[in-house]
Amino acid sequence: VPISNIRNFCIIAHIDHGKSTLADKLLELTGTVQKREMKEQFLDNMDLERERGITIKLQAARMRYVMNNEPYCLNLIDTPGHVDFSYEVSRSLAACEGALLVVDASQGVEAQTLANVYLALENNLEIIPVLNKIDLPGAEPDRVAQEIEEIIGLDCRDAVRCSAKEGIGITEILDALVTKIPPPKDTAKDPLRALIFDSYYDPYRGVIVYFRVIDGSIKKGDKICFMANGKEYVADEIGVLSPNQMQVDELYAGEVGYLSASIRSVADARVGDTITHYSKKADHALPGYSQATPMVFCGLFPIDADQFEELREALEKLQLNDAALKFEPESSSAMGFGFRCGFLGLLHMEIVQERLEREYNLNLIITAPSVVYRVNCADGETVECSNPSLLPEPGKRRSIEEPYVKIEMLTPKDYIGSIMELAQDRRGEFKEMNFITESRAKLIYELPLAEMVGDFFDQLKSRSKGYASMEYSLIGYRESQLVKLDIQINGDPVEALSTIVHRDKAYAVGRALTHKLKELIPRQMFRVPIQACIGTKVIASEALSAIRKDVLSKCYGGDITRKKKLLKKQAEGKKRMKAIGRVDVPQEAFMAVLKLE
Ligand code: GTP
Repeated sequence: VPISNIRNFCIIAHIDHGKSTLADKLLELTGTVQKREMKEQFLDNMDLERERGITIKLQAARMRYVMNNEPYCLNLIDTPGHVDFSYEVSRSLAACEGALLVVDASQGVEAQTLANVYLALENNLEIIPVLNKIDLPGAEPDRVAQEIEEIIGLDCRDAVRCSAKEGIGITEILDALVTKIPPPKDTAKDPLRALIFDSYYDPYRGVIVYFRVIDGSIKKGDKICFMANGKEYVADEIGVLSPNQMQVDELYAGEVGYLSASIRSVADARVGDTITHYSKKADHALPGYSQATPMVFCGLFPIDADQFEELREALEKLQLNDAALKFEPESSSAMGFGFRCGFLGLLHMEIVQERLEREYNLNLIITAPSVVYRVNCADGETVECSNPSLLPEPGKRRSIEEPYVKIEMLTPKDYIGSIMELAQDRRGEFKEMNFITESRAKLIYELPLAEMVGDFFDQLKSRSKGYASMEYSLIGYRESQLVKLDIQINGDPVEALSTIVHRDKAYAVGRALTHKLKELIPRQMFRVPIQACIGTKVIASEALSAIRKDVLSKCYGGDITRKKKLLKKQAEGKKRMKAIGRVDVPQEAFMAVLKLE
């Protein structure tokens, strides 16, 4: 098709508002995939994604659609739906001219949607509002349309009302894509500039790069160069996604496709980088490229020391496919050998942990996540510290700075009080509150990232019965009065349990943490003191009393099922334990600091 008949678009939606269901319906109605070959939700094709019902990696699909006897090519570029991946979202938006804004007509606009709409507006995208789930009895499309007009300022008179599930309104959406979204600019004569919006590692072919040709054209066999990292390759294979890969010889400005070029790791084909020709380079790279910066770090230790090498190999394999994952070896006397790993956020962290355990069969102890602190040392140097146990001694440091985030929360007005309480409790600084509609408010706070890592999101959800949503962005570093809290179990310091806390909270955290550890650590044959210290000063102390008798003794001669049950319980308890000195410490204890009341 001519470039005037190409439309490139993505779908902006809050988690669960129906993006995947709608994408599937678009693919089905355009005959891109046959119904019978359609696995449920074609676009989310990682198992983990399907299980959790969230989109992690983006994908793309080319559809053919005929309107008024004119053939059109519609390229859908999928975007991930979670705050951890907002850089990836911004790059896939930059590859489009338009976006469908899908809002659940029984819910309304959410913080995440709002943030992504702003990103789309910054990229000058044409936004088409779509009110989904009109089949639900609780759907209020009129109210939600008005809400979109008030909050975002989009004209919603022509908003499409649809039910992705029932297949209502899908043709209207396809028509709107054609009539409302502008075609790409015809710059096929310019030097090549193609934007990488996704890449993944294929064990047989190397990295597969997904890109949108912004200017110029690219042919199979071309010698290409990535502008941010300067590396050169030969494009062995290029093609389009329909949505399965289909080879073509050449792609022109406005088109979306993939290439493979024997690239060894996704870090060499980073999202946001610009592809150009080796012999005829573009003057400037496309704007918006940025390095991945991990925001949270944690330690990963194999329970069985023999699995250390396996863990290294697994991390290396995952890294081939995940440019944001960082790791380096870490060891401690209590925990043995493991790795300190960096992640974009908590969801990213959980996904990696789950894959290590499920796909690589590793049995791991994971330590509580920490942010990166900046320590201004007495000798004038500034060091970054992402591991509380490595914080320079008080005498060696002048001050500590911690990362702050700006957090925007949308909530029905009934929950404002309890959410404000939560933010204040987490050292949040109140900035703003606006009623975006009569019944919903936007709250803006600035708060330390460290206070958000952990159960903040869960708390927000539970305090608002699931109705509040949030979005955050890093705003820089600020000096805080922070101290290191150490834990000793049976007299042994356990570095993996060290944490950095605000001075004003240290006593309360120390007390709550020792109390929690006492609950979580099973009793031993001897008395076990658990202490929290700042420096050499003990600020809180608890003790596990000794078990006098063997667990089975009370069943002596007794009922066999009871005995089996007890043994089973013991075996389960043993699954994820790390021996610290003479004491077995379970996985939950390492995360205890995140769940203090
Ligand atoms: P992420 O992948 O996490 O971004 O979620 P999503 O936005 O892709 O949501 P998904 O398509 O998975 O839909 C979420 C839930 O809403 C699923 O249980 C769908 O079956 C349901 N759903 C989607 N569209 C409709 C609709 O039109 N009507 C009704 N009743 N349910 C729908």
